[in-house]
Amino acid sequence: MDRDGRRYFNHPTFNWLMDIYEEVMELAKRRGFLWPSFEIYGGTAGFYDYGPLGAALKRNIEHLWRRFYVIGEGFYEIETPIIGVEEIFRASGHLASFTDPIVECKSCKEFFRADHIGDRCPVCDGELGDVFEFNLMFKSFIGPGSKRAGYLRPETAQGIFVDFPRLLRFFREKIPFGIVQIGKAFRNEISPRQGLIRLREFTQAEAEIFVNPQEKTHPGFDLVKDEVLTLLPRGADEPTRWRLADAVREGIIAHELLAYHIHLTYRFLTAVGISEDRLRFRQHMLDEMAHYASDCWDAEVLLDRLGWIEVVGIADRTDYDLKAHQEASKVDLGVFMAYDKPKVIEKRKIKPKMEVIGPRFKQDAKRIVAALEAMDPDEVGDQEIVLELEGREVTITPDMFECVKVREEVSGERLIPHVIEPSFGIDRIFYAVLEHAFSEEEVEGERRVVLRLLPSIAPIQACVLPLLGARDELVKVARDVHRQLRRQGLIVEYDASGTIGRRYRRQDEIGTPFCITIDYETLEDDTVTVRFRDSMEQVRVAIDELGDWLHSELGL
Ligand code: GAP
Repeated sequence: MDRDGRRYFNHPTFNWLMDIYEEVMELAKRRGFLWPSFEIYGGTAGFYDYGPLGAALKRNIEHLWRRFYVIGEGFYEIETPIIGVEEIFRASGHLASFTDPIVECKSCKEFFRADHIGDRCPVCDGELGDVFEFNLMFKSFIGPGSKRAGYLRPETAQGIFVDFPRLLRFFREKIPFGIVQIGKAFRNEISPRQGLIRLREFTQAEAEIFVNPQEKTHPGFDLVKDEVLTLLPRGADEPTRWRLADAVREGIIAHELLAYHIHLTYRFLTAVGISEDRLRFRQHMLDEMAHYASDCWDAEVLLDRLGWIEVVGIADRTDYDLKAHQEASKVDLGVFMAYDKPKVIEKRKIKPKMEVIGPRFKQDAKRIVAALEAMDPDEVGDQEIVLELEGREVTITPDMFECVKVREEVSGERLIPHVIEPSFGIDRIFYAVLEHAFSEEEVEGERRVVLRLLPSIAPIQACVLPLLGARDELVKVARDVHRQLRRQGLIVEYDASGTIGRRYRRQDEIGTPFCITIDYETLEDDTVTVRFRDSMEQVRVAIDELGDWLHSELGL
């Protein structure tokens, strides 16, 4: 059935109409993927638990992410506290600007995001109060008493930035290098109502790549420059297909390194099961960009009820964060970049006139000369200079110095690296993977629901099923096969209850790619029937070869 342009259908068990979102969430709760947290106490919006299958699927998504970023890109993973001291978030700007406008209804006392509603309360039509800014960080205190404030991190990134000096030493004072972190982030969202899309506690997988600002490129860009992606550049009405090299040349994507990471994000999302025709990259509008970013692209996926939803942000954070932490902590966060060969540069210097300063200042003359030499001539000009010398003010008149041009050999320069950051929201990706994998079809007059998860991320890799009413010998073989496959490192279920058709349907619904049936032929020739989830085709495989066969089919 069609309503509001979405698909609805009658559920076989329940007698109401559900859209795909409700159907996926109902399946996810019923089959142990996820459910609202603290349910026995009525739950609280913005928190979800991952059940046995959900936790396994989420781990597989994270594992694949590590394969891309830790193994593929050679980045290192670290783990930092989820609670951070106030100084971090004051320096990063979160304390001042990580806010949403909020408004309270004067009648029902509900809070709403002021930019999401109209003039009156959407719940009771009551009058709304004044709009004020609400900081989204959860505040706590470190230690007894309330002297030391701490905040649950709103992004995993800050833990990496404040570790920069130690990381730089680990990488023997050389950039570029990349650091990743997978962990919880917390945002006290005002009214989260969209399942896994807007949570108050969620998982991020972030990479922070520290680079020379003059070298925003990647050795792998050449291999991907001809790839074509769907981009929605700032100001465009419709998404269009762009060759990556063209998008960089035309200035649509700021540089090759950002383009490379947009493509890597595309590769990861499709490898995890996001369908390519429901994936696009949207550039942030200037007024939408986070306070730290100079360019930012969101990977957006199309969801049935919710429309286009951001699942990954890929930003050029420039030197914003390191500069801010350097200023606040007074710790030098620069890197010395040695040139390939020393450069001769011409620069202006202040040359103190000793013949005037010496007789005039006597024993203070040496210190005055040193102070003048350390000054920047562009800041001084040819004006009078007032120096502070042990609490006294000393006036240096223009006849005591001159500005001269000198040639100097320099072997490198100190600079603050820029940061490129792909930031993945694992929970949103998890939901999108479920929805894009969800399918229903009619088979022999019955509705078949199949979660077409890619075999590489399915929470259960295979299920062993002895024929119904099987003799003891069949059950024994089935148990042996089950044990053997687990010993070979596979995650395999055993299910002996209900008709074989019912058991297949149960596995289809949770996305198990292979069902292994032990039947009477097994006793004769030591082979089993393997059924493919998507095509329902069946092949026979020798028990001896089953483990290797599954490993290869699962792409392990
Ligand atoms: N360090 C950059 C950063 O945190 P972000 O765009 O605010 O950037 C990155 O967040 C990703 O985290 C988003 O693309 C989204 O997938 C996920 N995310 C953000 N807020 C979320 C929330 N309240 N619930 C679930 N996921 C969220």
